Amino acid sequence: MLKNITILIVLVLADLVSAKSNLSTERLSQLSGEKQNSFDSKSEWDQAYSRNSFIFGKTPAKFLAENFDYIPEGSTVLDMGMGEGRNAVFLAQKGHKVTGVDISSVAIKKSYLLAKEYGVKIKGVVASLSKYQIPPESFDAIICFYFINRDIVEKMKSWLKPGGLIIYEAYTELQKTVKSHRKYEESQYLKQQELLKLFGDMRVLKYEEPLHEEKYRASIILRKE
Ligand SMILES: C[S@@+](CC[C@H](N)C(=O)[O-])C[C@H]1O[C@@H](n2cnc3c(N)ncnc32)[C@H](O)[C@@H]1O
Repeated sequence: MLKNITILIVLVLADLVSAKSNLSTERLSQLSGEKQNSFDSKSEWDQAYSRNSFIFGKTPAKFLAENFDYIPEGSTVLDMGMGEGRNAVFLAQKGHKVTGVDISSVAIKKSYLLAKEYGVKIKGVVASLSKYQIPPESFDAIICFYFINRDIVEKMKSWLKPGGLIIYEAYTELQKTVKSHRKYEESQYLKQQELLKLFGDMRVLKYEEPLHEEKYRASIILRKE
């Protein structure tokens, strides 16, 4: 009888400890200053990536696959909001030295699995790009696919070496009209021609914003003069 009561007390205490640690994770996340809306916080992205499959697939974005040769051979490349590594691994296969930063530790773990599967190495960093410190002129190229943080655009430009390239693609607001589209936080949609304005002080090598596809996006390649 005494043994049963002891086991019960241990189980109740274990439950309490577990509930407390869940609560504090959530609280920590709030205190970190990350937004808690839709797909905009670490916990939501960790959860989205926690399934076994690769939610954005293992193959690179079409715009990157078609334009990767703008990036000079053997470049150092930063992948902002790398996710599960589809673009980073593709560029590593092309011989580039890729660092991917993402707020989701689950995404970074999956990117290492993908790199292993394709027999290449990438460097993954779990961090929020709003706080992560990168010295100026660290990279030959920066890629950014479907991650928008307007507050760090100027920092992003400073991270590039002179002559460096940015390849950027994100959904435009029209994408919200597509029924099957999984909604993101409002800030994650570009206004018409917005990339051209945000990067107005860089040379535009290519710009696409098609209005006739099921997927409404803007894609740009820029050079820092
Ligand atoms: C729509 S996904 C795109 C992933 C990847 N670029 C791709 O195209 O497959 C957006 C990514 O941004 C990451 N992210 C969101 N907020 C972030 C932040 N503050 N710092 C770094 N990464 C962030 C998410 O974890 C997610 O992996």
